[in-house]
Amino acid sequence: MHLTYFTLANIRSVAQATIEPSAQFNLITGDNGAGKTSILEALHLLSNGKSFRGRVGEGLIQVGRPHLEIYARWASRSGLNRQLGLRHAGSEWEGRIDGQNCALLSDLCTALAAVTFEPGSHALIDGRSDQRRRMMDWGLFHVEPAFIQLWRRWSRAHKQRNALLKQRTHATAQMEAWEAELAQSGEAVTRLRADYIDALAPYVSQWADRLLPELGEAVLRFAPGWKRQSVSLEDALLVQRARDLAAGFTTAGPHRADWVVEFAQRSQGERLSRGQTKLAALIVILAQAEYYAHQNGEWPVVLLDDLASELDIAHRAAVLSALAEVGAQVFVTGTTAEDLSFPAAAQVRVFHVEHGVIERG
Ligand SMILES: Nc1ncnc2c1ncn2[C@@H]1O[C@H](COP(=O)(O)OP(=O)(O)OP(=O)(O)O)[C@@H](O)[C@H]1O
Ligand SMILES: [Mg+2]
Repeated sequence: MHLTYFTLANIRSVAQATIEPSAQFNLITGDNGAGKTSILEALHLLSNGKSFRGRVGEGLIQVGRPHLEIYARWASRSGLNRQLGLRHAGSEWEGRIDGQNCALLSDLCTALAAVTFEPGSHALIDGRSDQRRRMMDWGLFHVEPAFIQLWRRWSRAHKQRNALLKQRTHATAQMEAWEAELAQSGEAVTRLRADYIDALAPYVSQWADRLLPELGEAVLRFAPGWKRQSVSLEDALLVQRARDLAAGFTTAGPHRADWVVEFAQRSQGERLSRGQTKLAALIVILAQAEYYAHQNGEWPVVLLDDLASELDIAHRAAVLSALAEVGAQVFVTGTTAEDLSFPAAAQVRVFHVEHGVIERG
């Protein structure tokens, strides 16, 4: 997936920008606060419905402006020209895919795929489980067409059951109907998530071999959110109903699903260093991108924010050379160009940002 042209307007300090990127590396340089990350946030938004620094309504729109706008063009694998436009006001939004109005933000987000490694990515390993679920679900949205429908059904049933629990509603027909729906769709969501993690595991192991060989074999494990080996979700909900009524919410289920990466050469209780945590996150992100490429025939766009401050020089070089090898389009930001060594034959286009204004370097 290679963007050929994109424009953005009213994103943080960037009032207006047009970028014609290279199909390989794009280096965005500028001082602190210049607007480099904002450009990556725009692309991340197209693929995720939100920025990696929060929702659109949480400060992404330039102060004093009613909405932000992003337009992107790329050639599909089959050579078809594709385009996508988004105008977002925080709560309301309008989107167009290939010239047609788009009713669901999730449809817009599945058109373009971008994966992001940024200073907050370590949280994928050492942060709360909601980010790990979001990562799994992003992967499934982009590779498994049936997933979104099931996810919506499950999510609705989960919310409805919680609403009933909050009102202290006991075994009514309504509770039973939502539990049946939750169990059915939740089991289906969980099956897909488990299969996804299984499919991702060999990619994680390969990327760990490349980027973090000193920690030994990496194993990716899925946790469904309840004791799935011994009990169906339907039974689990029934058994825990009294406890859930006391708590006022569903305590166990797919909303608690998680995954973990374990390394063979690291003993129990031994913590990863800060840098190793970041590398572990990057390994999972690149594994996910490669699995996407395996399923869809092309790599997602890769966004690397502030790579030089995140990784040491050897790891930066290893990542950039691996991405050159697979032919991914990469956008990487940094305060200076000197911090990054691109592979010798790589095509690198440089953009410089100053006070929200972007120019070809
Ligand atoms: N809603 C907003 N409206 C206008 N300006 C904003 C808004 N939100 C943030 N800014 C400003 O936009 C600028 C862009 O920040 P951004 O994070 O993109 O910079 P950066 O080049 O990535 O910097 P760094 O090198 O520190 O990571 C900052 O100066 C910030 O103060
Ligand atoms: Mg930044």
